[in-house]
Amino acid sequence: MPKVSFAADIKPLFRDIDISHMKRFDVELDNYVYMSNPDNADQVLANLSAHNGEPPSMPPGGPYWTADQLALFTKWQEDGYQP
Ligand code: HEM
Repeated sequence: MPKVSFAADIKPLFRDIDISHMKRFDVELDNYVYMSNPDNADQVLANLSAHNGEPPSMPPGGPYWTADQLALFTKWQEDGYQP
């Protein structure tokens, strides 16, 4: 299986509204340098994921990422944050 790429596979999962709203909070969803910092990527993934039966916190009210999309993000991390 080819390695997951930020530009080709991950960045397109974020909507323009996600990217623009989160810049205000210094969360740069479209910025490879920001996203390839493992602490930032882990925090983004945590916000996209359900916790203890609670829906994900991001994006507020949904639409939430599917299990396949979350798995792709995890594989991007496991593949070593390819650009
Ligand atoms: C480090 C990760 C993140 C943090 C700490 C974070 C935090 C926040 C906070 C505090 C707000 C404003 C309060 C609220 O509306 O609940 C917000 C708004 C928003 N976030 Fe995030 N967020 C993160 C990641 C994301 C991701 C990954 C997405 C989308 C895939 C996203 C999409 C949005 C959108 C669309 C809004 C605006 C909601 C509105 O104004 O109606 N955020 N975020």
